[in-house]
Amino acid sequence: MENVEIKKLTEKFGTPLYAYSKESIVKEYRSFAHALKGIGGRIHYAVKANANVELLKILKREGCSFDVDSEGEMRAATKAGARGKDIIFTGPGKSSEELAFAIQKGCRYIAVESLQEAALIKKLARTLLKKIDVSIRVNPDIRFKTHAYIATGEKKHKFGVSPQNALRIFEFIKQSKYVRLVGINAHIGCQIENPDTRKLLAARLISIALTLNAKGAAIQYIDLGGGFPYDYRHQKTFDAKKYFEPTARLFKRYPQFTLVIEPGRRIVAGAGILLAKVLYTKENYGNHFTVIDAAMNDLIRPALYGATHRIVPLQATSRPKQLTSVVGPICESADFFANRISLPLMKPGEFLAVLDTGAYGFIMSSNYGLRRKPAEILVDQNKYRLIRKRQTYEQAL
Ligand code: LLP
Repeated sequence: MENVEIKKLTEKFGTPLYAYSKESIVKEYRSFAHALKGIGGRIHYAVKANANVELLKILKREGCSFDVDSEGEMRAATKAGARGKDIIFTGPGKSSEELAFAIQKGCRYIAVESLQEAALIKKLARTLLKKIDVSIRVNPDIRFKTHAYIATGEKKHKFGVSPQNALRIFEFIKQSKYVRLVGINAHIGCQIENPDTRKLLAARLISIALTLNAKGAAIQYIDLGGGFPYDYRHQKTFDAKKYFEPTARLFKRYPQFTLVIEPGRRIVAGAGILLAKVLYTKENYGNHFTVIDAAMNDLIRPALYGATHRIVPLQATSRPKQLTSVVGPICESADFFANRISLPLMKPGEFLAVLDTGAYGFIMSSNYGLRRKPAEILVDQNKYRLIRKRQTYEQAL
């Protein structure tokens, strides 16, 4: 990774261990920044993909803003140096305490997801004597091909409100001295591969914003959420500039609107690897298994979504290959990293890396099995440092 020998990290810090490349994060962020240059959009990194404060600091220094979904994420962004205006607060179930925290902090906007939430924000802002800007999250009913668990923009989903209800929410807050509607936002899901789907989403939101502005709103932000595609199989490349071309052409016709995006996965996925040690290999009735010291509590994506992550051994790969299932030590069959993949034969004590685990990796880790959460390392050229210690048993228990 960059100029650091990965094996050295396993020896120094033990396994399981997450390691991230700073260069990769910066490169991905800059490709978004470059793509939006001509249209002057805003980039709010979705903190939920990876909330390590040291990574957030890298992005902050690059000029990136943040999209948060909870008070915890807002605290992480704040710790990384974000001010209120650098933050937008999204999510379908914000508590009263979280909303009060966000109003005090003064976010760029809070995304409203229901009439009841609008009423609560109005009440809190009046009580706190604090002005707050909001956007309305719309459910645009757009379907595209992705995993069912990460599709969020169809009528059947819990997210956002219909265009009719957006109008009701605007009517409800328009007299408030404390709450001002400044945006329309949506997040229709992850892995949106087709640039025309993105443009269709932009067109829907712009049309709703135009309707509301004709009724007296002053909407400036059109927020298209996240969901920029990352190919875990490494067969397709992503050219941000090309991807945004149809959307950019549309925005050029509406200079009154500012484009906002909330990329998470694309910025950090490829920057991270999960390192693990081989504990045992075994054969059961002709099925070969490689048992490693990382488990589904460290990386749940294969178990939860059937996600594919490439796996590479850190040792010489000239040994004969064999079909093996790479599995963890927890007593359930969902505890796997890959089923029947072809890997050079490995021996106990050797190491492997699970690739592209920078997004939704550590952040979704748990203490299942009363296992401790792993450590995290940041690699920067020929240097590396610990950016989160491995949990102690006292913390895990
Ligand atoms: N904005 C909002 C409001 C979101 O809910 C999300 C992700 C994003 C932005 C960022 O989407 P991205 O660019 O990362 O695709 N745990 C799942 C992913 C769930 C993401 C949910 N929302 C996984 O491991 O694939």
